[in-house]
Parts: sequence; C-alpha cells; structure tokens
Amino acid sequence: MINRNLNFSTLIRLVRNSSFLILFALVFFGQGCKSDKVEEPALSAATCDTANVKFSTSVFPIIEKNCNNCHGASKYINFGSGINLSNYDEIAALKTEVVGTIKQEEPKKYSPMPKGAAKLSACDIAKVEAWVRKGAKND
Ligand code: HEC
Repeated sequence: MINRNLNFSTLIRLVRNSSFLILFALVFFGQGCKSDKVEEPALSAATCDTANVKFSTSVFPIIEKNCNNCHGASKYINFGSGINLSNYDEIAALKTEVVGTIKQEEPKKYSPMPKGAAKLSACDIAKVEAWVRKGAKND
C-alpha cells in the first residue's frame, strides 16, 4: 500500500517534470527554427558561380524560364507589352532594362519582373548582372 502510493506520486512528479522539459524543448527548438529561416543564403563563390557565366548556358535559360511566357517570340505582342526577349539581339539591346526590372531596387525605375511572380533568386540576378558587366557577349 505504501509502496503503491509512493510509485503513484513519483509517476505524477515524473510526468510533471517531463512536461516542463517538453515545453522547454519546444520553445528552445522553435526559436532555433525561426532564426534559421530569417537567414538569407550567402552568395559565395561556392554557391553561385558568376565567373563562368555565358549567354547561352546561364542568361538565356534564366530568361526562357522566367520571362518568355510573356516576352517569348510568339507571346510578346499579346502578353509582354511588345517587349521581345526571345533572342540574343533583343536581350542585349535591353540589357540595362532587364537588369533594372529583375533587381527591383527602390526607387523603382522599371516595372518589377517577372510580372506576377516571385523575384528571381539572388544568384540568378547576380549571373545576369555579371554577364552585362563582362560586355553582354553572345557567348
Ligand atoms: C506575366 C507576364 C510577364 C512575365 C512573366 C515577365 N514580364 Fe516583363 N513585362 C510584362 C508586361 C505586361 C510589361 C509592361 C509593363 C507592365 O505591365 O508592368 C513588361 C515589361 C517589361 C520590361 C520593360 C520595363 C518597364 O519598366 O516597363 C522589361 C525590360 C521586362 N518586362 C523584362 C522582363 C524580364 C527580364 C522578365 C523575366 C525575369 C519578365 N519581364 C517577365 C509581362 C511579363
């Protein structure tokens, strides 16, 4: 009888103690997750290669994927406000505007692009900028 009472109160104490532990763990790990999410991935050479940027392998694929639903050859008149980004000559001629639209810097000099979608990744923006900085070649 005495033994059973002791066991019961020990059990209660255990549950109470561990619920404190669980609460503590939730708060602690919860904060850990929150601060992980806030951090932006660093744009280091290891994660973003801007040294080997070429029009054909870096820039055009970014434009094709993110812009040419509206600015492609068969789309730009209806959806892209007459702005054609379907080939090198057109993109090179608009390089300043292209960089301006994807960087979306304040105060906004250009309409933010891609229209109606999330801003491009920092790495994709850095690649397009690097290509322009190196002379916007047809490479
Ligand atoms: C959903 C369709 C759509 C997509 C996707 C889109 N654009 Fe546009 N774009 C437009 C329209 C429409 C305009 C005319 C201006 C406006 O309505 O904001 C425009 C305007 C522009 C202009 C002219 C700049 C200005 O200030 O008017 C440039 C340059 C441009 N877009 C580049 C891009 C680039 C680069 C991408 C991809 C990263 C892109 N667009 C994606 C529809 C689109």
